Amino acid sequence: MEVRRAKTAGFCFGVSLALEKLDAEVEKHDAKIATLGPIIHNPQVLERYEKQNVRCLKNAEEADANERVVIRAHGIPRETETTLTKACKDVVDATCPKVKRAQLGIHSMISKGCFLLLYGEKDHPEVRGLMSYAGDRAFLFNSLEELKNFPLSADIDYCLAAQTTQDREEFARIDEYLQTQLAERLQVLNTICNATRERQQEAIAIAQEVDAMVVVGGYNSGNTRRLADVSRAQGCLTFHVEKSEELSASDFKGMKVVGLTAGASTPRSVIDATEEFLTKL
Ligand code: F3S
Repeated sequence: MEVRRAKTAGFCFGVSLALEKLDAEVEKHDAKIATLGPIIHNPQVLERYEKQNVRCLKNAEEADANERVVIRAHGIPRETETTLTKACKDVVDATCPKVKRAQLGIHSMISKGCFLLLYGEKDHPEVRGLMSYAGDRAFLFNSLEELKNFPLSADIDYCLAAQTTQDREEFARIDEYLQTQLAERLQVLNTICNATRERQQEAIAIAQEVDAMVVVGGYNSGNTRRLADVSRAQGCLTFHVEKSEELSASDFKGMKVVGLTAGASTPRSVIDATEEFLTKL
């Protein structure tokens, strides 16, 4: 069977960088290593680190004084960073540079007196981090409709920003709406990352040309689930799996071409194994 593999499948720049930092810490062998929360949403990678004695902390208070703690790509809230710095031996900041830039951009706008309007998912770790840079001067919303119900004040300046993985088109609609309401009282931070969009666009293009699509990645990885959703939205039969062993030859009976993509936290070895399985059919 022919396999059309997406060029963008797999780790994004921020995830690669975070894993490189963690690997470098593990290789030093001079302290116990932990991560605050799972370093990425991929069970195979997490299992490997567990075997290398990397502890996954549930919260900053769990950190040990002998431990070096790695902050994952999503970033963490400011107050958590303060707790962590006091609790552990050393903090290694593996926050994705794009997330860091969003955090600092928000911080700078708040210091100038702006009120933050953040387009993002409630309870997402990155969003919790971003919100912490605004203190209580922030409103979090997940859709234009939700924002429209928020009473905007007539005499303060606002700053619009988004979680890095949000939809760019919806962000543009939100910006347009706010321009009509606030005009020069609105500052816009362009914080959306292209990695998600590029993956989704390629998945859509491939889904339109194949008999079925395979999306590989953690079930709890939001960006992987969204890739499966955009593929299904094209009317394409889509399988979301964490590893090739979950697929069965009978699923692809009579098919000639199948698409393959993967979330931003899926290791190359898992994508390669899936491609090999499909090619052999
Ligand atoms: Fe960073 Fe974008 Fe990945 S913000 S973690 S490069 S999806």
